[in-house]
Amino acid sequence: MRRYVRVAALCLGCGLCSLLYGFSQLALSLEQEPGWRKLQAQDAVVPVRRQKAAAGGRAAAAGSAGRGEQQNQLLDRYSSVKTWNAEKMHLAVVACGERLEETVTMLRSAIIFSVKPLQFHIFAEDQLHNGFKGILDVLPYQEKFNYTLYPITFPTENAAEWKKLFKPCASQRLFLPLILKDVDSLLYVDTDILFLRPVDDIWYFLKKFNSTQIAAMAPEHEEPRIGWYNRFARHPFYGITGINSGVMLMNMTRIRRKYFKNDMTTARLRWGEILMPLLKKYKLNITWGDQDLLNIIFFHNPECLFVFPCQWNYRPDHCIYGSNCQEAEEEGIFILHGNRGVYHDDKQPAFRSVYKAIKNYLFGDDLGHSLLQPLELELQKTMHTYCGRIYKIFIKQLTKSIRDVYDRRSKGR
Ligand SMILES: *[C@@H]1O[C@H](CO)[C@@H](O)[C@H](O)[C@H]1NC(C)=O
Ligand SMILES: *[C@@H]1O[C@H](CO)[C@@H](O)[C@H](O)[C@H]1NC(C)=O
Ligand SMILES: *[C@@H]1O[C@H](CO)[C@@H](O)[C@H](O)[C@H]1NC(C)=O
Ligand SMILES: *[C@@H]1O[C@H](CO)[C@@H](O)[C@H](O)[C@H]1NC(C)=O
Repeated sequence: MRRYVRVAALCLGCGLCSLLYGFSQLALSLEQEPGWRKLQAQDAVVPVRRQKAAAGGRAAAAGSAGRGEQQNQLLDRYSSVKTWNAEKMHLAVVACGERLEETVTMLRSAIIFSVKPLQFHIFAEDQLHNGFKGILDVLPYQEKFNYTLYPITFPTENAAEWKKLFKPCASQRLFLPLILKDVDSLLYVDTDILFLRPVDDIWYFLKKFNSTQIAAMAPEHEEPRIGWYNRFARHPFYGITGINSGVMLMNMTRIRRKYFKNDMTTARLRWGEILMPLLKKYKLNITWGDQDLLNIIFFHNPECLFVFPCQWNYRPDHCIYGSNCQEAEEEGIFILHGNRGVYHDDKQPAFRSVYKAIKNYLFGDDLGHSLLQPLELELQKTMHTYCGRIYKIFIKQLTKSIRDVYDRRSKGR
């Protein structure tokens, strides 16, 4: 009898044990469930991130990304608008002579499409200052930009000697890293630039610089057969056809820190030390002034330059003898550069019609109705010219940029 009791107790114990074991297993599997899910979720995130990084890299290298990739990048860029509020985009321009209206039109194009706030640094001859104030102080969208007016100046050290050697207006841009000492990065543009897409998008190239790059520019020519530097220059120049300095993105912190290789001494020189000897040496051989000096500097320091594609600095040279900027044909013009006065004469009506359209557009009016549509009609009248024949590339990106403005507004950004 006792034996039976013992066996029964044993069985009960075993049963209890197995029951407990069962419960503990169940509990364990329940615990593991969410943990397992978490792992899965992480797994799924990793390749997406990698894809984005790879897409970004390709875009910088080739200057062109597929639509989906570009969309991703845009989201990345604009979604951080709020957190980046401290980081303004700094834009500098040098205006002399009759350039007031042209400069204001450039600034307006920057304001229309850009997302992050802009800080303008306007270097102008004294007689233009009141003109700038009068116009900029009454522009709408004051929350999107701020500006500072400067006289044409040289760095305070050696100002007298600088003045003897450099023509003030033409060479002002070379001194920006030394004058704007507190500014980390800067986009310098000529007055005859028009933005057809947000400044944010060219500003973003700063983040793509590798560790040795300090500035970004576009080639002077796409087609060596009509290139200027490779046929005529009597000084060294960057790459195959040289670089154009009309749109110049700079990390000035890096420019100020860098020691530059050069062909004047075996010692490396800082930015503030290299300009004067360079000018003295090449004075008789340079044609385009400061752009030539930049070409000489980057010839000796090619690892410092980030080259962006021609659609970010699109000039008449890219179409007057036939189209040779392939990226613009594919994706449209991003930044238009009407050099040689083409906004103001009859030589390249396609360029002039873009200038007029932006100049005449009133802030607050519908961009499609009051800017894009009249522009397209004007461009269609230019099809007798080489540039007019491919007029669609003048509005391809512009159309997207306008759509993006309205998309952002509808989302309240
Ligand atoms: C605007 O620029 C002026 C200098 O011209 C500066 O003093 C001021 O702090 C700037 N304002 C903002 C909001 O950045
Ligand atoms: C200037 O050009 C002349 C003629 O091409 C050339 O002989 C000379 O070496 C050049 N000077 C410099 C500093 O390169
Ligand atoms: C410019 O370069 C400096 C030094 O490498 C870096 O700290 C800074 O973030 C760069 N600026 C931008 C806008 O990338
Ligand atoms: C940065 O890119 C430039 C241009 O492609 C290249 O010459 C240079 O070697 C690169 N620097 C580094 C550190 O990879």
